[in-house]
Order: sequence, then structure tokens, then C-alpha cells
Amino acid sequence: MNIVVGITGGIAAYKAVNVIRGLVLAGHDVHVVATEAALRFVGRPTLEAISRNTVNTDLYEAVAEVRHVAIGQAADLIVIAPATANTIAKLATGLADDLLGNTVLASRAPLVIAPAMHTEMWQNPATVANIALLRSRGVHLVGPVSGQLTGTDSGVGRMAEPDDIVAHALAVASGASTRIRDLEGRRVLVTAGGTREPLDPVRFIGNRSSGRQGVALAEAARDRGAAVTLIAAHVEVPLPTEIDVIRVETTEQLLQATSAEAARSDLTIMAAAVADYRPVEVAEGKIKKIHAGERLTLELVQNPDILATISALPRDGRLIVGFAAETASDREALLELGRAKVARKGCDYLVVNEVGWTTGFATEGNAVTVLDASGAIVFEASGSKTSVADDILGVFAAALSGAQ
Ligand code: C5P
Repeated sequence: MNIVVGITGGIAAYKAVNVIRGLVLAGHDVHVVATEAALRFVGRPTLEAISRNTVNTDLYEAVAEVRHVAIGQAADLIVIAPATANTIAKLATGLADDLLGNTVLASRAPLVIAPAMHTEMWQNPATVANIALLRSRGVHLVGPVSGQLTGTDSGVGRMAEPDDIVAHALAVASGASTRIRDLEGRRVLVTAGGTREPLDPVRFIGNRSSGRQGVALAEAARDRGAAVTLIAAHVEVPLPTEIDVIRVETTEQLLQATSAEAARSDLTIMAAAVADYRPVEVAEGKIKKIHAGERLTLELVQNPDILATISALPRDGRLIVGFAAETASDREALLELGRAKVARKGCDYLVVNEVGWTTGFATEGNAVTVLDASGAIVFEASGSKTSVADDILGVFAAALSGAQ
């Protein structure tokens, strides 16, 4: 394959040498396009020796060969590692003020980027929006992971390891993006669907959750290599194969099953829509109009909060993710509710989405914002529930690998 490796001006550029090396040793013809800033971090001779090709930087070199478009046109795959916040912003806008920008614009090849920056820059709303835009256009991301950054700080923003970048990039190029197996060896627990609280033998209090998002998460985690357990409350879609399924009805049953499973899962995702209240008494026989009369009063009692319960236990590197489906008036109000909820529940991440009479539940698509434990936005995704599931799992897989 003809692979273009774009290198931009971040300190992680020194690790790009190992990305190039990995691709060359896998038998590929690698052409480096480095920005001027990248060459301040790593020397041209190193890049030329390792890639075994001339390094291109200048837009005005070899103009007769129309190099500003030729490199991109000839590429089967473009990998940008590291991708700085600045480069990500330029890619999102379609700017072509250097050779790398021209190369990307002039190419139809898949584009894989490995972001690397400080946590504040990664979480800046501008970067978050740019990343969401690039993803929606089909750009593939590897990382960033959580870990030691350049200074004394650590957090999310560290570039993925070179071997992982090579593996992801080659998987993308072979059309096997769903086979990115970054959850290999992990146990993932997903709860899905709506709980049902019985009133009598034939009636229940339930909700409109279809379980689609949870099932999509279980499938995506399986495809990324995890051993998956799905605790399914009422689910309206077919259950996936090759995963363990535990069926439950009530919140109490969900609590029992989740408590047992979460303790042995690296990642627990609580996508189930859990009833906050249940009837104080469940009638032995069917509740009848002739006995209840004109008005019927049901007394309800609060259910235990499963997410808060499991989040309060020591978890030793395991990650717990909650979902918050809210009927907020606008985005800021939605995020405010999410921030308050993540603090109250004590989980590591909260996936916030808006629901209403026609959005969120029982629909094919979804739009979510992922908050971390501090309430900061770390990710946004929208699209089909399948693509949203896969995208957000990338965030949690990266967090798990950074937590090692
Ligand atoms: O408080 P709220 O229901 O909005 O919180 C939503 C999140 O909490 C979801 O992840 C849901 O699965 C979880 N939850 C829970 N136990 C409850 C209520 C909600 O685990 N009793």
C-alpha cells in the first residue's frame, strides 16, 4: 500500500518515527508529509532513513510534478500522527495552507488521525466540535488515551501507542474498521431496556425504552474483542449472539444481577432505563374496577439507585458509565442536568442525551454528549445508535488502556 504519514508539530512527533517504522516493516511504501513545526521536533534525516523515502514539507517544492495534489491522489491511506489541536481545526475547516492540508483535501483515501494534546485543549469546546465534525465525515480516530502528558500533568490527550496506531490504521485500510479490537481481553457489562414494575399479575409500570442503544453497545463491545454480558430488561430488538444474556424484569432483579456482574467487569455501562419508583404493594389478583371504584390511588416507593450503588464501591481501575436521558429545554440546560447527575451518581462517565415525545427513545438515531466525572465534555457523537455505540466505546477503551 502507498501510505502517507502526516506529522504535525507536537512533542509526540518523536513517536511518529515508530509509526513509520511499523508501517514500513509491514511491507508498505511510506511517504512522510511533515509540517514545518513537526520538523522542529524530529529531524528530516531520521524520517527519511526510517521511511526510506524523501520527506515532503514545502508546498512550493517540485511544483512541476503538481506534488500538492499528487501525493494525496496516490495515497491508499493517510495517517496523521500526532494530530495537534491546530491541525484538527484545519482539517475540520478544510484549510489547505500547507502541503499536508493539500494532500488531505486532494485524497479520497481513508484518513486516520491520532490526536495528541494537553487535556484542556482536547476538552476545549472548539476541539470537541471539530472532532465530532471529522467523525461525522468518516475520519477515523485512534486515541487519544489517558496517561502521562509532556509536562508533569497527566490525563486524556496522550497519543495512542505507535503499535496501536499502526494496527488501527491497517485495519481501517483493509475495510475492517469494525474489527478494531481495543477491548480484547476485557469484560464489559451492559444493561439495556426498560424495567417493569408489576402492579398485579397482568399490569406493570414501564417506560418507552426500546433497548436499542444498549444492545448496540453490547454488539460493538463484542466486535471490539470484549467478553460481553448484557443484562436485558424489556428489550424490543433481537438480542445479539455470542454474548451472555441475563434477563430481568424489575429494578430489584436488575440490581441483583448488576451488583454481581459489575464486580468482575472492566467496564460497566448502565444504558437501561430504570424505574425510579415501584408500587408499594403488588396485588395478588388482578385489580378490578368494581373493587377500586371511580379513582384508584397507587402508592409508590423509590427504587434503589443501581448506578450510584455500584459507583460507591471501590473499583480498582474498573470504569462505570451511566446514561442520562433528559427532557431539557436547551443544550445548556441538558448539560447542567448532566453535570449535576454525574456528581450525584459518582460514575466515571455519563452519556447525556435528549429525549422527548419524538426523540431519543424507540428511535433509530441518537445524539449524545459524554461527560467525565468532573462534568467536562470529553466527547460528542451523533448518528445511528450503532455508530454512536462504536464511537463512544472508543473513548472508554482508550480510558481503560490509559488507566493500566
Ligand atoms: O437518575 P436517572 O434515572 O436519570 O439516571 C440515569 C442513569 O442511572 C442510567 O445510567 C440508569 O441506568 C441509572 N439508574 C440506576 N438505578 C436507578 C435509576 C437509574 O442505575 N434506580
